[in-house]
Amino acid sequence: MGIKAVVFDAYGTLYDIQSVAEITEDAFPGYGEIITQVWRIKQLEYTWLRSLMQRYQDFATVTRDSLAYTLRILGLDYDTATFERVIEKYLHLDLYPDATSALTALKPRKLAILSNGSPDMLDALVRNSGLAPLLDATISVDANKIFKPSPQAYALIRDVLGTAPDEVLFVSSNPWDVAGAKAFGLNVAWIERVSPEAMALACVENEVVAPLTMFKAIRTQMDELGFAPDHRVRSLSELPGIVARS
Ligand code: LAC
Repeated sequence: MGIKAVVFDAYGTLYDIQSVAEITEDAFPGYGEIITQVWRIKQLEYTWLRSLMQRYQDFATVTRDSLAYTLRILGLDYDTATFERVIEKYLHLDLYPDATSALTALKPRKLAILSNGSPDMLDALVRNSGLAPLLDATISVDANKIFKPSPQAYALIRDVLGTAPDEVLFVSSNPWDVAGAKAFGLNVAWIERVSPEAMALACVENEVVAPLTMFKAIRTQMDELGFAPDHRVRSLSELPGIVARS
């Protein structure tokens, strides 16, 4: 197997979605953590629901709708400027610290993002974070109007890069995305950022389970969907070694 292209999920994999926590806390003091977690949980849920309902709306809309849901159910009042300030952070998410060096080390292979993000969101994010010069393509599922983990979303990699599934290493920290990519036939590396040991300990050590712990429990551990990643790594910096050995 020769890896010709390395394709990354965006949110949670190259970009830290938890980095919205500062702005949610600043905008709604005392509610930052619960907003951050419910928002992301609902955002993904809406992508899957919309795909099943065959009522696609792009990720920018889904991201706004899930934030509106979150603020409503918490009984929080807000003005348009506050809402926009929180949403704006999605265009300026923090890159994981090892992202730029890992991508640089993976050259000259083709490098791309395949994300649920809408083209406008992804283009701004890639530009603002300085990743644009390192990427050969930023692929949005919007082209096929259905979200990952639909096979029609992963099929876009071949359409855009011209690489067959077995020539691609797909990288994601999202377990549901790992399962979807494996089901499609890609080689997959899972960035396991929360170890099962740390997960189990977080629940016994605390009397009250924090929203972040709940989030980790449902969205960072490998799912029971019958698909396992080919590679299990702790950080993006391990990828160049894996690709070199392939
Ligand atoms: C992505 C999100 C959903 O596709 O993780 O980038």
